[in-house]
Amino acid sequence: MRKTVVSLFTFLVCVQLSIAQTSGFQELDQWVEKWKTGKQTFFGYPVNEQSQLSDFYEWYVSTGMDVVNLNNAGDPMTDNPEKMSSQAFEREVIEFFAPYYGFDANKVWGIVTHSGTDGNNHGIYFGVNYLKNKTHLNPVLYVSDEAHYSNMRLAHLQNLDIKLIKSDKMGRMIPEELEKELDTSRPVLIVYAMGSTFKGAIDDMQKLNEVLNRHPEIPGIYRHVDAALFGGYLPFTQHKQMVSHKAMHFESIAVSGHKFFGIDSPCGLFLCTRDIYDSQEDFKVTYLNANMRMINCSRDALQPLKFWWLIQKVGAKGWAKQGNQIMECTAYLKQQLTAIKWPCWSNKYSNTVFFRRPSESLVKKYKLALGNDSNFGGELAHIVVMQHVTKDKIDTFVSELKKEIIPAPPASDNKAKAAKKKGK
Ligand SMILES: Cc1ncc(COP(=O)(O)O)c(C=O)c1O
Repeated sequence: MRKTVVSLFTFLVCVQLSIAQTSGFQELDQWVEKWKTGKQTFFGYPVNEQSQLSDFYEWYVSTGMDVVNLNNAGDPMTDNPEKMSSQAFEREVIEFFAPYYGFDANKVWGIVTHSGTDGNNHGIYFGVNYLKNKTHLNPVLYVSDEAHYSNMRLAHLQNLDIKLIKSDKMGRMIPEELEKELDTSRPVLIVYAMGSTFKGAIDDMQKLNEVLNRHPEIPGIYRHVDAALFGGYLPFTQHKQMVSHKAMHFESIAVSGHKFFGIDSPCGLFLCTRDIYDSQEDFKVTYLNANMRMINCSRDALQPLKFWWLIQKVGAKGWAKQGNQIMECTAYLKQQLTAIKWPCWSNKYSNTVFFRRPSESLVKKYKLALGNDSNFGGELAHIVVMQHVTKDKIDTFVSELKKEIIPAPPASDNKAKAAKKKGK
């Protein structure tokens, strides 16, 4: 009898559990559906909604790697590749990208980061250490007022003196303003925006470098490029010089992996010259048997594998095709907006078009990012033309936008009104 009661109880618990689980999963499934539809009109943010990692996940589960817990703590460019990590692949990723950012493969150092912000953090941190070691002085950080907020945040975090340099109407740092603000008695740590977040402005590195070169008295200079989005596609287009260390003379660059490259969760690339890495203080950690000059201890082992996978699967050829497509679609969007006389603007080499803000319902439907600038009539919104923002979707968007235009009254009406006013 007792046995029967126990088994009945166990049965009831199991049923209850499975009901709870099913209803929980139903909620999850509904949530998935919402995003599957939502991604079709996700226009406002730099997310590539055509991730090509399905077969990666199949491989990952089918090989049993999902139950192997790896960690990339340490330096992928020098550590023993036999560690419980994917560092050997991380290193291949850095070596693959090095020439695309104008670094020699044997003179580069880099990691796959947790995000664009993490890459900027390394750029600023390495810059401070390099300059302090070289000059024994604290640098001043210069960045444009249109640059991504992470740079200001990181300056605060790293307790740095920061000078926000005025940008022009289109969002580019003004060289004359930089020169006015320069403190030539202290080292210069400058962050160049390679695609400011709202207007897609690219700081003119050549002109800004000329300003710095006019002041040989500056004790030391370090240039970091924040190329979160544009650093994805530009190296694979005819404008690759724009992101080249050799052409633009920067020391480090940060790029996001979850933007142009379409990795399905935040990650990125950070690359600098080997000299910069070697100038960092040693930080030997015995229990890791490693020299931990980078900021983080634990680092993701999966993201480098995803990058590596995409290199094999999409590679330079595929990214060139995608890069050219988004450039073409950006020009198309601008052309179509202009055709309906909707005020719009974009920077050269940019895949971001900003325009007069439409109705709230369109903003909501297309998840448009918002801005405000009196130079352009006040309230603005932007579209970041990523791989899924195709010409047919642009056509649909523009036709919906067109319906919001209040037609001007016919000319005859105007004449009649004017006549009435004059009392004729
Ligand atoms: C120019 C720029 N820099 C940095 C970032 C931050 O990158 P992440 O979101 O990968 O941390 C962004 C994000 O949009 C950005 O647009």
